[in-house]
Amino acid sequence: MNDSPHQSVLYKEIIHALQPHEGGRYVDGTLGAGGHARGIMEASAPDGQLLGLDVDPQALALARKNLAPYEQRIHLAQASYTSLSKQLAQLQWDVVEGILLDLGASSMQFDTPERGFSFLQDAPLDMRFGPHVSQTAADLVNEYSERELADLIYQYGEERDSRKIARAIVRARPLHTTRELVAVIESVSPRRGDRLHPATRTFQALRIAVNEELASIKEALPQAVAALRSGGRIAVISFHSLEDRIVKDFFREQSKDLVNPPYERIYEEERKATLKEVNRKPMMPSDEEIKNNPRARSAKLRIAEKI
Ligand SMILES: C[S@@+](CC[C@H](N)C(=O)[O-])C[C@H]1O[C@@H](n2cnc3c(N)ncnc32)[C@H](O)[C@@H]1O
Repeated sequence: MNDSPHQSVLYKEIIHALQPHEGGRYVDGTLGAGGHARGIMEASAPDGQLLGLDVDPQALALARKNLAPYEQRIHLAQASYTSLSKQLAQLQWDVVEGILLDLGASSMQFDTPERGFSFLQDAPLDMRFGPHVSQTAADLVNEYSERELADLIYQYGEERDSRKIARAIVRARPLHTTRELVAVIESVSPRRGDRLHPATRTFQALRIAVNEELASIKEALPQAVAALRSGGRIAVISFHSLEDRIVKDFFREQSKDLVNPPYERIYEEERKATLKEVNRKPMMPSDEEIKNNPRARSAKLRIAEKI
């Protein structure tokens, strides 16, 4: 993400959804360059506070710089949003008014060749969001079985050519660089017209797997609900249908009273709904926003309010 807050995806919609106000406490669990966070700080002036998390030390350094004018009101931590409850306990914040998760990788990460997220630049096959992640994309590509790779590329990348690509990877390995991987993918899955680059989906799948992105969201959402005060809001921007599905199912499930827990959930107790969906259909960027920021094209924003 560059310096301008307006490059932050669905920027206005996020500020409108979270309705930051003075004295409020907010969490940005995916700080990135701090674009959305800056909006929250401006709207909650003069004394609203923010806890900002990111697992990426580079992102955090950038956010610290961009958010310098608000440093008295901001708490930054190099930590995963999966540790939200712990981070809030450290600050002795019982409840917060708003939580934002803007999932996936940032433009800064895509645009830093040596991070290995981009198939347009040659770099080591890394793709880790932060140093806490134990495996790199090279580890997966070189160690997974053909079957595991095909499943991963199909499931997380929704790639039709997943089997062909997995077979070609296994034949060509060891692979160490993005350029080597792109060449393998192109050899079995050539460009089709002006559609997506053939490596797009495989790179996306590897990134999701390396960083265990889907498991992280599942772990974080219940913590977020527990942390919200009544009337507080959670806003989640996802860029992938599986991510959006997790958020949608969670919000729907939490919007219902669980009266007679079904047999398969015998250990769950009856409970009242905890959330109210603010928008049943996800909000998406306007054509204008997509034109200015093509990365926004697959973004979906879901918002829910704590009952
Ligand atoms: C799309 S960017 C956020 C951009 C930000 N909203 C802005 O306006 O600049 C997503 C960020 O989330 C971070 N991230 C990914 N997984 C994370 C996790 N489990 N915990 C905390 N941050 C994470 C990435 O490192 C990246 O910086």
